[in-house]
Amino acid sequence: MTMRATQTAKELDIYCAQLEAAGLDAPWSRPGPLIPPKPTAAQVHLWRWREIEPLLRESSDFLSLHRGAERRVLRLRNPGVPERTAAHSLVVALQYLLPGEVAPAHRHSPSAIRFMLRGEGAYTTVDGQRCAMQPGDLVVTPSMAWHDHGNTGAQPVIWMDILDWQVVRFLENLTYEAYPEDRQAEISSPGPDLFHPWSEAYAALLSLAEKESDPFDDVLLEYTDSVSGGSLRPTVGCYLQMLRSGMQTRAHSESSCAVYHVISGNGFTTVNDDRLEWEAGDFFVVPPMARHAHANTGSEPALLFSAQDRPLLKAVGLYRAEPSL
Ligand SMILES: [Fe+2]
Ligand SMILES: [Fe+2]
Repeated sequence: MTMRATQTAKELDIYCAQLEAAGLDAPWSRPGPLIPPKPTAAQVHLWRWREIEPLLRESSDFLSLHRGAERRVLRLRNPGVPERTAAHSLVVALQYLLPGEVAPAHRHSPSAIRFMLRGEGAYTTVDGQRCAMQPGDLVVTPSMAWHDHGNTGAQPVIWMDILDWQVVRFLENLTYEAYPEDRQAEISSPGPDLFHPWSEAYAALLSLAEKESDPFDDVLLEYTDSVSGGSLRPTVGCYLQMLRSGMQTRAHSESSCAVYHVISGNGFTTVNDDRLEWEAGDFFVVPPMARHAHANTGSEPALLFSAQDRPLLKAVGLYRAEPSL
């Protein structure tokens, strides 16, 4: 058989039809790179608490008391993400529970991290460990841990849910199970490994502030799993951050994605060419490789909480951070 350097277009068509029949693909038969590029879906976005809160409170008009309370969430929706989540890798939802409402116990493969925002009397039970949540408290619900939650207080409560279901869904491992009705629930006191009270996190942040200042983040504390010493979940890390009054951080870009919540204070974050002016309660997203820097324009320290996919990127060797010149 003689080799020819070029085949006719018709011969290529016949060859490609044979490939298709054999379940094969020749990426070089089409123009463009061998690995198709994928533009960043997550866009820079700011959600304002003064718009969120009234809409959250109104949501209880549509899902009545004791029915559907566990479904009464509003998700932060990034305009660039087809699945209508805060980012391609991070899902952030706001849960609104009226007094007396209880969500039925269940478990699922995605992990959830709850960060309490407003109100008194909320609790989450994780694998039988009941955690009462005050504003600023954080509770981890690992993958496949049984959990339920409710509001025993006299006023509505609001918390923030951070979920990794976009990653789990990409890996085609989504599962969900309701708690069997014939099984007796066992309740015990909160486990120190899943419950991170505000008092402890804030005290650790204050003591870190006495020791160091990071040029890109000022004072940044990562919540750690008390058993492994690593990030809260392999997919998601959570951070508490203080920007001191007058602080303007240096800009950098990171290959990870972050969703921020402003606990208190006023300031702005520049993300690429956008300037996001934020105040208490607001949320904003910093997409992968977006150049960003934070500034506190208030007279008090600003406190930011963030959920980031940084641990996942580190685990697969893709995390990098580059200072901007
Ligand atoms: Fe759940
Ligand atoms: Fe950063």
